[in-house]
Amino acid sequence: MTGSTQAAPAAISCRGVSKVWNADGDKPFVALKDIDLEVRPGEFVVLLGPSGCGKSTLLYLLAGLEQATRGQLLSAGRPITGTSPERGMIFQDAALFPWLDILGNVAYGLALQGVARAEREATARALIARVGLAGFEHKRPSELSGGMRQRAAMARALALSPKVLMLDEPFAALDIQTRAKMQNYLLDLWRQSGARPAGADGAESAEGGTSMLLVTHSIEEAIGLADRILVFTARPGRVKEIVPVDLPRPRNPRDAAFHALHDRLAELLADEVDRAFAEQEAAVR
Ligand SMILES: Nc1ncnc2c1ncn2[C@@H]1O[C@H](COP(=O)(O)OP(=O)(O)O)[C@@H](O)[C@H]1O
Ligand SMILES: [Mg+2]
Repeated sequence: MTGSTQAAPAAISCRGVSKVWNADGDKPFVALKDIDLEVRPGEFVVLLGPSGCGKSTLLYLLAGLEQATRGQLLSAGRPITGTSPERGMIFQDAALFPWLDILGNVAYGLALQGVARAEREATARALIARVGLAGFEHKRPSELSGGMRQRAAMARALALSPKVLMLDEPFAALDIQTRAKMQNYLLDLWRQSGARPAGADGAESAEGGTSMLLVTHSIEEAIGLADRILVFTARPGRVKEIVPVDLPRPRNPRDAAFHALHDRLAELLADEVDRAFAEQEAAVR
């Protein structure tokens, strides 16, 4: 991306970001090295890489839950110094509050922000309906299926209209049919946030919508969702290649272009997975 005249600042920028775990201890561990990344407002970016390459670490840094060892992290042009409702996070297990019903969970962040009860409940109900959970407002999380809980988590995150939503392998625990449906819900929510897929003319929409940063192991999921896919190297995690996905949505895994991209990504990943595997085996010897 080049800076056009008065372009809005990137939703997220990482410049030369490195993270060393246990930096002061006797076993420092380089999890991320020299990450440069710009995410446009409303862009959908997928992080793909072998396990242990630092994908979750990068999300923690961006969420403001951990500090980088080196480099700069910006959100809408401002340094990231801690957590913010502008940057939401969804984990593999929905992490809803078990003692609150779905309505209470989705409205929770708004309550913290001091939004009046009637207004926050109206917002929460609308979002609950949008993720297909109308009628379940007064169920507890434990009464719902995994896919339903994950949709409730999406509604909860989106209630705060975040500029950036980070999703760390959000569908990994779900069966394959549920997973496909969840991807569609996510794309709908993303579109309704005002995001306009990049590609057509490369321009940004005025408002930008919510930028998505999703971690997955699944190449198919990555191609199905992303504007751009960041392929990571095995540790230390670096960006090996950025692959744009210029296919119209909805994307069909049976299309030739989808296949070709799948093959290319599989090849990029295979070396890294081999390296990660060999390292893990060496570590326990
Ligand atoms: N809090 C932590 N302290 C020390 N090491 C950590 C911590 N979190 C993650 N790591 C290590 O950093 C590496 C990258 O982890 P992670 O970001 O979870 O990878 P990924 O999400 O790509 O699987 C792993 O080797 C992991 O063991
Ligand atoms: Mg992870």
